[in-house]
Amino acid sequence: MQSWRVWKRRRLAWPGVVLLAAGGLSAGAVQAWHATQTSGTPAAAGSTMTTDGRTIYHDHCASCHGTSGRGDGPAAAFLNPHPRDFTTGNYEIRSTESGSVPTEDDLITSVTHGLPGSSMPAWKGLLTDAQIRAVVDYVKTLSSRFADTQPPVVNIGKAVPTSPESVARGAAVYKKLQCTACHGTDGRGTGAIARDLKDDTGHPLNSTDLTEPWTFEGGATARDVYLRFRTGMTGTPMPSYVNTATDAEMWDLANYVLSFARKPAWQMSADELHALYAREDADAKKHPVERGRYLVDTLACSQCHSPIDREGHVLRGLQNAGGQRWHLGPWGDFVTMNLTSDRETGLGSWTDDQIKNVLTRGTRPDGSRMLPFPMGWTGYADLTPQDLNAIVAYLRTIPPVHNAIPAHDRPNIVTYLWGKFRVLIMKEDPALYAYPGNAGSARGGAEVQ
Ligand code: HEC
Ligand code: HEC
Ligand code: HEC
Repeated sequence: MQSWRVWKRRRLAWPGVVLLAAGGLSAGAVQAWHATQTSGTPAAAGSTMTTDGRTIYHDHCASCHGTSGRGDGPAAAFLNPHPRDFTTGNYEIRSTESGSVPTEDDLITSVTHGLPGSSMPAWKGLLTDAQIRAVVDYVKTLSSRFADTQPPVVNIGKAVPTSPESVARGAAVYKKLQCTACHGTDGRGTGAIARDLKDDTGHPLNSTDLTEPWTFEGGATARDVYLRFRTGMTGTPMPSYVNTATDAEMWDLANYVLSFARKPAWQMSADELHALYAREDADAKKHPVERGRYLVDTLACSQCHSPIDREGHVLRGLQNAGGQRWHLGPWGDFVTMNLTSDRETGLGSWTDDQIKNVLTRGTRPDGSRMLPFPMGWTGYADLTPQDLNAIVAYLRTIPPVHNAIPAHDRPNIVTYLWGKFRVLIMKEDPALYAYPGNAGSARGGAEVQ
């Protein structure tokens, strides 16, 4: 049985830190994942000097990219964008022509600097250059497409330095090539025709907000931007624009894209920040479902409200269908609720207010009260009415999954006080862990125990 102290120490173990910081992975999934690591807590990054690519991969990459490289590590279900599936050989960040694999240097750059705006960490400083090269060589073995001859590198022509004239010419190219369809006339996606985009694996993927170049995954120099639209971002809706314009026009376009850049929040004055938040609020009001999805992702609702297997993978077809059983020290077991729109076993027949009352006050529809843990509803009490509406709006869009959740094992006053006594007076560490398997009625749960 894991004690609270062990849980905390493990939670801070690498790569848990990355997962938590970057993907907001819940304790449950990290816990289940670490529990499956036969080698115990992975060594702190950089402390092992192995240059065996395979070992480095399994220690540092597999939690997201999966042991076989299919992009299906335990953390994957919770990450948006989704970790790359290395077996396809499809890569977004390339200096090579559309449809080809990246060069070794492209991969080294991605691993070294990470993909900003996604949960793919920068490994510089955590792994040595030799380790990064070794792990990249290992990643290449996961797709047979790298066995071919050298991929064709794009001839980037002669760079056009930025100037007001170049930017003005670039604006015309932006319109001509209809970048507006996805990125909008303002680069933020306002007025864009194509919303609800998906990547090749069917996961939702928004068009990048071009006013925030620090989120560009492949970097934000004019060369980086040029390469992204010239070669396309394979596996995403971002197309390749090879042969659609002259080289000079493409450089002008890159200069124009970079002219969208706004000041980052960390450089803004209080007034500027105020205006930024007001604008973001207005956007959220216009697109409540998107805002709700973002909140549900960042508040980690799905991590707790989906049943998992021993490795922490969400059981197939049961994302958000509840049924994850939690054990919390002397207070006993808790099973998470089905959040899908199923009328009988999910939130389908709950009113908006009933959902909001659980979230902000821990009060169930029958009037009973939840403890403020394991679900930290006191932390949700400050959500603005608008954000609460957005969460409800998004929850309504989750397709129904029938998964009846067993009745609560409610702690009575004696167990409740006894538990507090043991923790506060006897200074015991309460155990907290998530069980694998589905505690609900849906099939597929029973065989995983
Ligand atoms: C916390 C999760 C996480 C970990 C750990 C992680 N990655 Fe990633 N990685 C991602 C995600 C997510 C993406 C896809 C981002 C996107 O599509 O925007 C990605 C993408 C990549 C890409 C693709 C770049 C491209 O051009 O498409 C490479 C290469 C890569 N990772 C290598 C690694 C290596 C090597 C390691 C270990 C040293 C590693 N990753 C560890 C989450 C992770
Ligand atoms: C069909 C929709 C679509 C069109 C048309 C489109 N984009 Fe994109 N663009 C996307 C999506 C989706 C992404 C996000 C890809 C990701 O995050 O993996 C993106 C990402 C980008 C990025 C960020 C690159 C990075 O490193 O993260 C830039 C820059 C960009 N697009 C510029 C353009 C330009 C310039 C045009 C017109 C020549 C264009 N896009 C046309 C959908 C589109
Ligand atoms: C740390 C894990 C965790 C997170 C994160 C979490 N929940 Fe929960 N949730 C639980 C548990 C455990 C219960 C059952 C609690 C109980 O029975 O006292 C629960 C109960 C609920 C209930 C139903 C109450 C009932 O039993 O009738 C709803 C609705 C709910 N959660 C929605 C959400 C939403 C929406 C989010 C994200 C904003 C969220 N939860 C985040 C663990 C979590």
